[in-house]
Amino acid sequence: MLISWWHFYLATQSIYRQVLDMASVLHKLITPLFSGPAEPPRNKVSVIGVGQVGMACAVSILLRELTDELALVDVMEDKLKGEMMDLQHGSLFIKTPKIISGKDYSVTANSRIVVVTAGVRQQEGESRLNLVQRNVNIFRHIIPQIVRYSPNCILIVVSNPVDILTYVTWKLSGLPKHRVIGSGTNLDSARFRYLMAERLGIHSSSFNGWILGEHGDSSVPIWSGANVAGVSLQKLNPDIGKDKDKEGWKETHKMVVDSAYEVIKLKGYTNWAIGLSVADLTESLMRNMSRVHPVSTMVKGMYGISDEVYLSLPCVLNNSGVGSVVNMTLTQDEVSQLKKSAGTLWNIQRDLKNL
Ligand SMILES: NC(=O)c1ccc[n+]([C@@H]2O[C@H](COP(=O)([O-])OP(=O)(O)OC[C@H]3O[C@@H](n4cnc5c(N)ncnc54)[C@H](O)[C@@H]3O)[C@@H](O)[C@H]2O)c1
Repeated sequence: MLISWWHFYLATQSIYRQVLDMASVLHKLITPLFSGPAEPPRNKVSVIGVGQVGMACAVSILLRELTDELALVDVMEDKLKGEMMDLQHGSLFIKTPKIISGKDYSVTANSRIVVVTAGVRQQEGESRLNLVQRNVNIFRHIIPQIVRYSPNCILIVVSNPVDILTYVTWKLSGLPKHRVIGSGTNLDSARFRYLMAERLGIHSSSFNGWILGEHGDSSVPIWSGANVAGVSLQKLNPDIGKDKDKEGWKETHKMVVDSAYEVIKLKGYTNWAIGLSVADLTESLMRNMSRVHPVSTMVKGMYGISDEVYLSLPCVLNNSGVGSVVNMTLTQDEVSQLKKSAGTLWNIQRDLKNL
C-alpha cells in the first residue's frame, strides 16, 4: 500500500514537472509588465454578411490597414467560420492583429464602423416592394443588435435597394442621421469616372464627375459639373449628356446603369468594385479625412425635397460620419430628376410595415 502511494506521488510530480516545462518556454521568453483586462479595440470594423460583397469589403479594408480588429457576422455558421479562418491564415501578410467571427452580435462590440451587406436577393418575378419588405424583416433583427453592442458606431449600408434600406436602418437604429450612411452612388460615380476617363485617355482620378440621387437605374449624372483640371466639358460641348449630343456622351451614363447587370450576367454578382469603394469610405471616416464622397444621406429639406428619403449627394465624411453636405449647383433638370427619385422612393417606403 505504501509503495503504491509512493508511485502515485512520483507520477503526479512528473506530470507537474512536465506542465512546468511546457509553460516554461512562454515564461522564459516573455516577462509580463501588465496583467488585467485587455484594452478595447480602437479602430474596430464589423462586416455583417460574409457573401461576395461582404468579403470583398472585408479584404479591401484589411489591405488598406484601417483597423485593429475585424469582426464578421452571418447566419451561415460554417461559411462564416471558414471565411474567418481563411483570413486569419493570411495574418502574416496584413496588419490587423485580430479577426473574429460569430453568429452572436457580441463579437461586434465596440465597433467604430459597421458595414451591412446582409440580405436576400430578388427572386424571379418578385416585386421590388416584396424584396424590400423581406429585407426589412431581416434588418429588424440585425440593426438593433448592432446598436446594442456598438451604440457609438457609424453604419454603412450596402445591401440593396441601398437607399431604402439606409432609411430603414436609420429608423430601426435610432441613431442620428449623420451616423447612418448608404454606399449610394459612390460605386456608380466610380464606374462613371472610369468609363469617362477611359474615353478621354486619362486616369479615373483625373476626371471629376458625379452621379447623384438613387443608386442604380434612376441615378442622375451631373453633366454640368463634369470637368478635367477645372475645364468644364459642358462648356466645350453644351449638348453633352443630352439626346441631341452628336458625340453620344450620354451613352457613358447608360453604360454605368447597365454595368451591374452586365457583370452579374457574366460572373453572377458584383463585388470587387463595391468592396474597394466601401474601403475608401471607411478610410475617410476612420482617418477623419473630411473627403467628399457621393453617398446616401437624409435629404429632407434639400433641393425642395420634403419627404424623409435617403439619396446620394456630395457628403463630407469625417470621424463623426456625414459631417456636412456640399450644396452643388445643379441645373433645373438635375433637380427635377432628384425630386422624381425622392418621390419614387417615398412611395415604396410609406407602404413598409414593421418600421
Ligand atoms: N450598394 C451597392 O452598390 C451594391 C453593390 C453590389 C451588391 N450590393 C448588395 O449587397 C448585398 C449582398 O450581396 P452579395 O452578392 O454579397 O450576396 P450574397 O448572397 O453572396 O451574401 C449575402 C449574405 O448575407 C447573409 N445573410 C442573410 N441573412 C442574414 C442575416 N439575417 N444576418 C446575417 N447575415 C445574413 C447570407 O448568409 C449571405 O452570406 C445584396 O443586397 C446586393 O444587392 C450592393
